[in-house]
Amino acid sequence: MIQETHIDAALKELFANLRFTEEPAGLYDPLRYMMEIGGKRIRPRLCLTAYSIFKDSFNEGILSPAAALEVFHSFTLIHDDIMDKADVRRGVPTVYRKWDENTAILSGDVMSIESYKLIAKAPAEVLPKALELFSTTAAEVCEGQQYDMDFEDMECVPMSDYLKMIGLKTAVLIACSAKLGAIIAGASDKECVLLYKYGYDLGLAFQIADDWLDTYGDPAVFGKAIGGDIVNNKKSWLMTRAFEVAGDRREELVAAMAMPVGTDSQKAEKIATVKAIYDSLGVGEEAKNEIIRLHGQALAHAAGLDLEPEAYALLESYAKKLIGRTK
Ligand code: IPE
Ligand code: IPE
Ligand code: MG
Ligand code: MG
Ligand code: MG
Repeated sequence: MIQETHIDAALKELFANLRFTEEPAGLYDPLRYMMEIGGKRIRPRLCLTAYSIFKDSFNEGILSPAAALEVFHSFTLIHDDIMDKADVRRGVPTVYRKWDENTAILSGDVMSIESYKLIAKAPAEVLPKALELFSTTAAEVCEGQQYDMDFEDMECVPMSDYLKMIGLKTAVLIACSAKLGAIIAGASDKECVLLYKYGYDLGLAFQIADDWLDTYGDPAVFGKAIGGDIVNNKKSWLMTRAFEVAGDRREELVAAMAMPVGTDSQKAEKIATVKAIYDSLGVGEEAKNEIIRLHGQALAHAAGLDLEPEAYALLESYAKKLIGRTK
């Protein structure tokens, strides 16, 4: 087994040493910008954590695929920010705002290709499995992002559709991260399945927390603008649940969604109006309970692995940090 402190150190070193092509700068500068600002890196961390349960040391065969997850994820964010008209990410201007949309599209494209170059460094004996998992997951993320956009034009969606959408756009990549680490470590099929489920439930919890933070977070810590989901009529967990419990306040919610967002003050007014409805319906508190429930479900899958206590503790610690997110 590999200790958590060693995982921390390996991640730090991995991203400090990652190098990409220099020219043309217009193509690769945004890539470096995203990778250097760096996010929380929860996906490579999970990949290395799952691997650490079974192995005693890291090598390029696991480190490069772990980096692939982060490069792929960062690519999806660049395109997501165009789709969501988001100006700030990780506390700095988004790529399409700092450069322009065409730059963001093409830099995103090349990042997706860079991620394949990195995943291809998985050990030859597991490469077909790793590629199959990665490609299936990548397509699923696109599917989820399409549902996310489709839902903007709908008044409301059933909770089951919301869960399917976030399962695709967010949870599968986190699940894939755990399973990839297990596959490369040579874990059994049963272990791979349980780690996938652990990652999937944590991924759902992570997205619900993201939705909560989008309304209730501290912008200075969150690194993204607050209220973007409300402005865009996103079917977040809060909005989806609000429709479930609105009763005779449904029309109020529909009217709030139709409020204009042409100016900053109009945006602020819409955000305040929707937030007040959320507050009075108590959906923010409910979201927190749902996150805790999914966290418990994830740990139940981890418990099914029958691990030594210190290996289970690695998964427990990872899960705790993930759902305790403030950014
Ligand atoms: C943001 O992902 C997109 C979601 C799936 C919610 P992260 O919250 O992992 O973003 P970074 O990489 O830390 O910036
Ligand atoms: C993004 O969901 C999921 C992906 C990028 C695939 P969000 O749109 O909620 O993510 P943020 O809030 O912009 O990070
Ligand atoms: Mg989005
Ligand atoms: Mg977004
Ligand atoms: Mg969000």
